[in-house]
Amino acid sequence: MRVVEKIDEMRRLRHTLSEPVGFVPTMGYLHEGHLSLVRGARDENPSVVVSIFVNPTQFGPHDDLAKYPRDIERDLALLQKEKTDLVFMPSAAEIYPPHFDSWVEVNGVTERLEGASRPGHFKGVTTVVAKLFNIVRPTRAYFGQKDAQQAAVIRKMVSDLNMDLKIVILPTVREPDGLAMSSRNTYLNPEERRTAVVLHRALTLAQQLFSQGERDGEVIRQQMISLIEKEPLANTEYVSVADAETLAELGRINSPALVSLAVKIGKTRLIDNYVLCKDKKPTP
Ligand code: PAJ
Repeated sequence: MRVVEKIDEMRRLRHTLSEPVGFVPTMGYLHEGHLSLVRGARDENPSVVVSIFVNPTQFGPHDDLAKYPRDIERDLALLQKEKTDLVFMPSAAEIYPPHFDSWVEVNGVTERLEGASRPGHFKGVTTVVAKLFNIVRPTRAYFGQKDAQQAAVIRKMVSDLNMDLKIVILPTVREPDGLAMSSRNTYLNPEERRTAVVLHRALTLAQQLFSQGERDGEVIRQQMISLIEKEPLANTEYVSVADAETLAELGRINSPALVSLAVKIGKTRLIDNYVLCKDKKPTP
């Protein structure tokens, strides 16, 4: 496994990789969710590139950039085990040199949910992902359903800008109690960690209601909110039942619906989602 910090070096080594090339962009502090993407890439491509870059432009002024968890040694050991060919871990100055002044912005699908809660967040994500795609030039890039809106935004960018690669979205990996794996889970104290399972319980409730025939988005939203608000440490930021592709909020559910939510557990903001499906069991 080669570890590369410079764009020039990454480009040079890219030529030596066998085609097709699978790519997994990450911000590090890897867990089983990230590793499932690396395995997905490994299954479909003879070469796998993973990037580790805590992208400053996708964090807001009150976000957790400085305290975002990092453990490069551990990450590299995990990636080595998964037979990663190349790890690209540039510095912030390598990606954003002085006078950097070009941005990639997707409208529409970025406006609600995470986009509304975190102004500028998706502009940072699409800009860095577009840059990484240009540097790595993957055949396929792998993203997690955990960040469903991010996945929809990346798909839209690739389609609108005719980027020549395939986007693959893989399922959310969960802890045994249902909590979606996330680097931010490390911020939770034991009591908050117990409370955090409420996101999954609310999604399970939504799927149960849907399976029983409920098609009114507002009824599902309200039931989820009541469940979450019973937890003293939990504060709902949003609960949404939306069209899975456009993310337009649904009154009546008649297309594949994405139920998503952002909840603050103490000071930690967690997100999760679930695609409602007629014949699906409530727990994945
Ligand atoms: P990061 O939060 O490190 O996530 C990297 C990838 O792992 C994303 O595609 C995310 O959806 C996926 N992922 C996270 N938790 C997961 C889980 N429990 N199950 C499955 N997949 C999971 O998302 C980012 O980084 C950044 O925004 C990035 C795309 C790298 C751009 O900076």
